[in-house]
Amino acid sequence: MIAIGSDHGGYQLKQEVIKYLKEKNIEYKDVGCYSTESCDYPEFGKSVANLVANGTCDKGIIICGTGIGISIAANKVKGVRAALCHDCFSAQATREHNDANVLAMGARVIGPGLAIKIVETFLQTEFSNEERHIRRIRQIEE
Ligand code: RB5
Repeated sequence: MIAIGSDHGGYQLKQEVIKYLKEKNIEYKDVGCYSTESCDYPEFGKSVANLVANGTCDKGIIICGTGIGISIAANKVKGVRAALCHDCFSAQATREHNDANVLAMGARVIGPGLAIKIVETFLQTEFSNEERHIRRIRQIEE
């Protein structure tokens, strides 16, 4: 199950990502927002982060205008490793190296075509499970 959330700046791209998840029969929980009306990104970053941290969802996707504010908010929740990715290399590397469990993107930074490729890469890439990466993630948690 994927938790997904955005502010107004990310709403349209969130709808595109939801369309992709539906096409791929990937279950998701949409925490909002539900329109382009102005709202505050910390609320939605936190909602997605909580669903991932408490195990309700395996991974999360968060979107705001830049992806920055919402990722800062999500990363305040213990156990969440939100990675802001605007290219497929970063999406793959952050899964392999950081075991990132939340993907953040900026809807004013990239278009829907690239965003979907990034989502696909993020969801399909497994953590490497290499000792050095496990050690570094443990250090972040500590
Ligand atoms: C909203 O205008 C914008 O500030 C927000 O979507 C995001 O980019 C913040 O980091």
